[in-house]
Amino acid sequence: MSSCVDFLIAGQDTTSTTLRWAMLIMAKHVYVQENMRQEILEVVGTERLPTVADQVKRVTLNDVQIRGHKIPAGTWVNGDVRYIMSNDPVFVKPKEFKPERYLHEDGVTLKRDLVERTLPFSLGKRACAGEGLARVEIFLGPTSTIQHYRILPPEGMEIDLEPNVAATFRNPKPQNLRLEK
Ligand code: HEM
Repeated sequence: MSSCVDFLIAGQDTTSTTLRWAMLIMAKHVYVQENMRQEILEVVGTERLPTVADQVKRVTLNDVQIRGHKIPAGTWVNGDVRYIMSNDPVFVKPKEFKPERYLHEDGVTLKRDLVERTLPFSLGKRACAGEGLARVEIFLGPTSTIQHYRILPPEGMEIDLEPNVAATFRNPKPQNLRLEK
């Protein structure tokens, strides 16, 4: 419940108050909106609503050459985070589930280089816009569950970690879990 209150205060009030101030300030300084409107009409036009892609495009601005490959200006570019992390030498045996790889021998101190090179939210200006929120959710969900329960496979069954190949995302196969107090 306290987390819901945190999210409500931190996420709702902050944004709505900022937007309320923005509306009032723009109403008082009309020339600012005129400049904004001109730019919006140039970039977006009137036939569609603005999208995140209007803020930062995913294309190269100039002709570039990377390792002998010519990439002309205007090429659509997207980082392949899975490839990058699977081939980064700081991750020994990258496909093995080994969360302790992130800790020094003392079992407490984080290995900064590994943390910094873990990129589930990608990198750069088009990285995940919800990273902060996602990190909070991913922290609170499992910690509060594990605080009270042991998460186990159903009696006599094994957990199947092969992804569901039919899905667009690599979704887990639906299966039951047992929560033990
Ligand atoms: C475990 C949770 C999440 C993961 C692993 C994740 C990962 C990612 C990744 C890899 C991208 C693409 C970045 C790129 O192409 O360079 C992305 C984009 C995005 N994510 Fe997330 N995300 C998560 C949760 C969220 C949440 C909770 C929100 C919103 C509340 C969110 C909003 C967005 C948006 C709006 C974009 C597009 C950003 C852009 O195109 O500029 N994500 N996310």
